[in-house]
Amino acid sequence: MAQIIDGKKIAQEIRNEVRGETTLLKEMSGITPGLAFILVGENPASQVYVNMKGKACEEMGFYSITERMPENTPEQALLNKIQEFNAASNIHGILVQLPLPKHINEAKVLELIRPSKDVDGFHPYNVGKLVVGEDTLKPCTPAGIQELLIRSGNDPKGKHVVVVGRSNIVGKPVANILLQKQAGANAVVTVAHTGAADLTRYTKTADVLIAAMGKAEVITGDMLKESVVVIDVGVNRVDDPSAKNGYKLVGDVHFESASKVAKAITPVPGGVGPMTIAMLMKNTLKAAKSSFR
Ligand code: GUN
Repeated sequence: MAQIIDGKKIAQEIRNEVRGETTLLKEMSGITPGLAFILVGENPASQVYVNMKGKACEEMGFYSITERMPENTPEQALLNKIQEFNAASNIHGILVQLPLPKHINEAKVLELIRPSKDVDGFHPYNVGKLVVGEDTLKPCTPAGIQELLIRSGNDPKGKHVVVVGRSNIVGKPVANILLQKQAGANAVVTVAHTGAADLTRYTKTADVLIAAMGKAEVITGDMLKESVVVIDVGVNRVDDPSAKNGYKLVGDVHFESASKVAKAITPVPGGVGPMTIAMLMKNTLKAAKSSFR
């Protein structure tokens, strides 16, 4: 039976570390890390995520503020709000929750965030620094995946990592992180996606499989090599008449069949999910520390 990688536990370890360092930072410098959330519209999932992130800030001893703007907010009003937080000395991180309403140009919004406050790591300046291997604010879910691998005893060094998915939020950045000639990385990385003529051709060769295409249970055990380490980033709702709310959450990997061949596997929920918020806290602390150097 495969090792189940406990993301909740590892995320809590990181949160404890961040809380401890925050106490020290406050004592030494008087700085309280500050994180500003901007939520445009009423997307229910986004509201849940922003609430969870706000609660995590409280646990860390951070200052946080949530700016809720209506669905029909003009793009310029959002840009003005970002400028305000860019200039605020008590705010070290700015997070614009995605997705944004269709009438707003996402790239324009993300590019206005000061790179030193870009705790999501989505600004092209930070993306570029990541690609060339410089120290930077890294996107939270990909950085969380790297921490999960290291802290569960599955260092990717020298392994063949196959990423399935090419999003800007997960697939592309996690490939770039694990490719670096750095401790905790140094993998040979292949980026595959659902456009592949024969996906199994790639997944079969993975020592570490990272599933991040956002399609329910597409990766099955028969597509994997014996003793693979499986990181499942997917969170998909599927109908489940036996559940109280009528649905259940499943990953991009078919857990039951994959766990029979894998050496280690992340569950959904409780695997990658909790790591995203933990790494957001870590990034905010990092941004606050850099602000007084
Ligand atoms: N929407 C889904 N994931 C994320 C994330 O990591 N950051 C932001 N800002 N929005 C998201």
